[in-house]
Amino acid sequence: MPDTYTLNDGTTLPAIGFGTYPLSGDEGIAAVASAIEGGYRLIDTAVNYGNEEEVGEAIRRAGVPREELRVTSKIPGRHHGYDDAVASTHASLERLGLDYLDLHLIHWPNPSVGKYAEAWRALVDLRAQGLVRSIGVSNFTEAHLDRVVEETGVTPSVNQIELHPYFPQVDMRAVNERRGIRTEAWSPMGKRQAPFAEPAVAEAAERHGVTPGQVILRWHVELGSLPIPKSATPERQRQNLDVDGFALTDDEVAAITALGRPDGRLFGGDPDTHEEM
Ligand SMILES: NC(=O)c1ccc[n+]([C@@H]2O[C@H](COP(=O)([O-])OP(=O)(O)OC[C@H]3O[C@@H](n4cnc5c(N)ncnc54)[C@H](OP(=O)(O)O)[C@@H]3O)[C@@H](O)[C@H]2O)c1
Repeated sequence: MPDTYTLNDGTTLPAIGFGTYPLSGDEGIAAVASAIEGGYRLIDTAVNYGNEEEVGEAIRRAGVPREELRVTSKIPGRHHGYDDAVASTHASLERLGLDYLDLHLIHWPNPSVGKYAEAWRALVDLRAQGLVRSIGVSNFTEAHLDRVVEETGVTPSVNQIELHPYFPQVDMRAVNERRGIRTEAWSPMGKRQAPFAEPAVAEAAERHGVTPGQVILRWHVELGSLPIPKSATPERQRQNLDVDGFALTDDEVAAITALGRPDGRLFGGDPDTHEEM
């Protein structure tokens, strides 16, 4: 598996990251620190997770050199105006105790508010100022991507979308790929509805002598999707990072992708209608 992906702006991300929602408080600090100590180098937080302070504390506690880490945060819908997006980014850095973010995303497009292109313009400027190394989006459709590219000439480096076996996002993965955008997968296991018992997953796990979770994460890697699994458990954190000792066959990959279904989305999070402020 690739150790890292090189993004369209020349920066790199590891092939698997660590999701931090809803980790918080002392237990959250311990879970994120344990993930970093166990080898995760990409950490995903957001203003709306309310845990940037804990993530910053975990980073300091783990003691890994800053330049080895890739820290992601996200601008919430209520901060989409240009000045709000700039202020939001400064506030995230303050809470994290960092002087730059490696990747900063627009969390949701919120098209009824209609200001995501303003937030994108702010991100372009924040990157030029060095406060953010790479910029991207989350939950963007093809139309949302086209609009920010048309207005600024700058293509996002990453589009973080819901992606798991019940919702394999065949079309959006192709849309991202055509534009040179890396697809990141949120809820990569499928959260509470993870298909661990589906024969396509469980039988592949049996054949390869790994866990169903490892099969799902390996499926992401084979697709070129960058998963950010969350686990509060050190043993699962370790397993989720350890997927390079086996490979799925093309048929195994196809059988897992075939689990996709029209109602496979987790919580009705359609980017055209879902509003997250
Ligand atoms: N951009 C967005 O709009 C958006 C939306 C949602 C999420 N996210 C990001 O994506 C990250 C991951 O998504 P998620 O947390 O919703 O879902 P997920 O990573 O698919 O699933 C997390 C759940 O799976 C369990 N789990 C993890 N590894 C496991 C394993 N190997 N075996 C069995 N169970 C396992 C965890 O339990 P334990 O903790 O008990 O191990 C947890 O309950 C979030 O933390 C967040 O950073 C982004």
